[in-house]
Amino acid sequence: MLAASNALLINGAYLLASILFIFGLKGLTHPKTAVRGNLLGALGMLVAVGVTLLDQHIVSFPVMIAGLVIGTGIGAFLAIRVEMTGMPELVAVFNGFGGVASVFVAGAWMLSGGDEGFKEGLVRGARDLIGVENSAAQIALMQGTIAATASALIGGVTLLGSLVAYGKLAGVKWVPEGEFIPAQKILNAALFLLGIFLCYQSVINPDNGLFFLGIVLVSCILGVTLVTPIGGADMPVVIALLNSYSGLAAAATGFVISNNVLIIAGSLVGASGLILTSIMCKAMNRSLANVMFATMGPSSSTASADDVYEGKIKSTSGDEVAMLLETSRRVVIIPGYGMAVSQAQHAVRDLANLLESKFGANVDFAIHPVAGRMPGHMNVLLAEANIPYDKLREMDDINPEMDQVDVAIVIGANDVVNPVARTDPSSPIAGMPIIDVDKARTVIVIKRSLSPGYAGIPNPLFAADNTLMFFGDGKKAFQEMIEALKEA
Ligand code: TAP
Repeated sequence: MLAASNALLINGAYLLASILFIFGLKGLTHPKTAVRGNLLGALGMLVAVGVTLLDQHIVSFPVMIAGLVIGTGIGAFLAIRVEMTGMPELVAVFNGFGGVASVFVAGAWMLSGGDEGFKEGLVRGARDLIGVENSAAQIALMQGTIAATASALIGGVTLLGSLVAYGKLAGVKWVPEGEFIPAQKILNAALFLLGIFLCYQSVINPDNGLFFLGIVLVSCILGVTLVTPIGGADMPVVIALLNSYSGLAAAATGFVISNNVLIIAGSLVGASGLILTSIMCKAMNRSLANVMFATMGPSSSTASADDVYEGKIKSTSGDEVAMLLETSRRVVIIPGYGMAVSQAQHAVRDLANLLESKFGANVDFAIHPVAGRMPGHMNVLLAEANIPYDKLREMDDINPEMDQVDVAIVIGANDVVNPVARTDPSSPIAGMPIIDVDKARTVIVIKRSLSPGYAGIPNPLFAADNTLMFFGDGKKAFQEMIEALKEA
């Protein structure tokens, strides 16, 4: 066990852990370095947890080890079992765990006291802040109380907000949809103000644990009422935001227990979650306020599906597409949410390999930043199928070349290739950058029906002169094309 004189060693280890977190995050910004980044982050966490275990002796050593083993076991089990399409739910649950952990740590500090005369010190610190005599130790205790109340307020919202987000994504029936009382926004504002009032009361009366419990209760209710009205399809953005909240709660808890690495790690999560939220909003050309407080969907001015599609849809088959592909030099595949649903990534890779090896075509993949339901969704699926990274072309990079493409194959993508984003300013996706597949010589769209995508609006691409619709499950459609090409 390390003695207190080893504070330098401990802080050095915390610094090392923080550096590993930062390099880990840097690695996660590119598919090539993502695995290494993940490992660096995990190593940083191991260093941070290990050093904390050696430094703190509040809980017995075997209990700490048991916690570490059980936690690692649950994490490993979930990571192995959960499907790629279930990742947003898993992240939601992890955020919730982060929120509740912060509430527990801050709550234990507030309610149990600690040193002899601890609560007395808190009370004096509080009184000093509002005008009586003052000392550095009391101010430190006061800071701890403020941080603990902030941690409870943010942690409670994160916990229940994440559970509601999980419920919506997993289709749990008892999770309410939409505003369940009239004027719910006013209720939210009232709950928030009540939470702030309770924080203030808790700070000036730190010896009264009821105020702290009140904050936890109010923040949990606020988590439910804030997330419930937001549409299920916007949950990925909400999850990124809650991820940021869980980081802020952890950072606040770091101030409570004076743990530097928790403050640093929490701040990194808080900032990166916020940056991710902003990237997602930008890629959808929506503001955060629009995601949080408005419902996305067709308006009265949206053209009806009949108007857009009637008499203009041309269907095709695997054999027909294979004949087209045989003579194509340049092919681009545009994956979307439907590729994830049908788990078609391996079939997609097989078709790309066949076109390149047997027919000498050049095949690329065009990746839209919000294709699918979470950031990097398509990159992860295609990387799982061992498609080389240099074949994955970002939207801005490939769009200028789309008019030189012989065949663009869209698999399960809809909104991210909807030209209405460019042409109709009243559309819910107006201004959202899209992949310009409509500029390719021929477009093949693979999906099961003409039903709309996430935004709920018709897509004129399906009715365009140069588009052929291949109706069916994404994976089956690719397998049919592969069979036909092998026989060619
Ligand atoms: P969507 O617009 O949601 O369209 C997906 C299409 O996949 C649907 O039209 C569906 O049509 C088809 N599909 C479903 N299952 C299929 C299967 N088994 N085989 C073949 N097709 C299938 O997807 P997108 O183009 O990827 O766009 C993503 C949307 O999600 C955007 O609007 C984006 O703003 C939103 N969003 C994304 C994120 C992130 S971070 N990625 C976050 C929040 C919101 P059928 O039912 O006819 O088959």
